Amino acid sequence: MERTFAIIKPDAVERKLAGKILDRIEAAGFKIVGMKKIKLCKSRAEGFYYVHKERPFFNDLCSFMSRSPVIVLVLEKENAIADWRTLMGATNPANAEPGTIRKDFAVNIEENSAHGSDAPETASFEIPYFFSALELV
Ligand code: RTP
Ligand code: MG
Repeated sequence: MERTFAIIKPDAVERKLAGKILDRIEAAGFKIVGMKKIKLCKSRAEGFYYVHKERPFFNDLCSFMSRSPVIVLVLEKENAIADWRTLMGATNPANAEPGTIRKDFAVNIEENSAHGSDAPETASFEIPYFFSALELV
């Protein structure tokens, strides 16, 4: 069993797409082991995305991620990290496969509805950034 970290981003929560995205997560065989709705402040978003701090989109990305609430999740299944990224689709919805979350719901390359860890080391940083062990059940 593997765990990954996911976010339903502000654009999706604002448009009341959280239920549809959670339905796809459960239908794909993930167990939701942690879930909460939170509002990030800008500095917490900056800490989360620190690997992108030199990228031209960093400031816009952190403003977007802190503009309204998100739903943070820990998902568990075999091959969870790769399978969640497959279910999300490509970063840019224009390049995402049909039937993926980003193809069906994303607004554009920035407001792309969902986040997923990209490697085991990333998940090991991202999960405890938002959850204590007691919150994972
Ligand atoms: P994520 O980390 O959110 O799961 O997305 P990802 O791996 O598919 O993409 P990544 O390269 O890590 O980028 C993180 C987030 O930054 C925003 N972005 N904006 N304006 C742009 O060119 C641009 N590029 C990326 C997106 O919200 C992307 O998910
Ligand atoms: Mg990423």
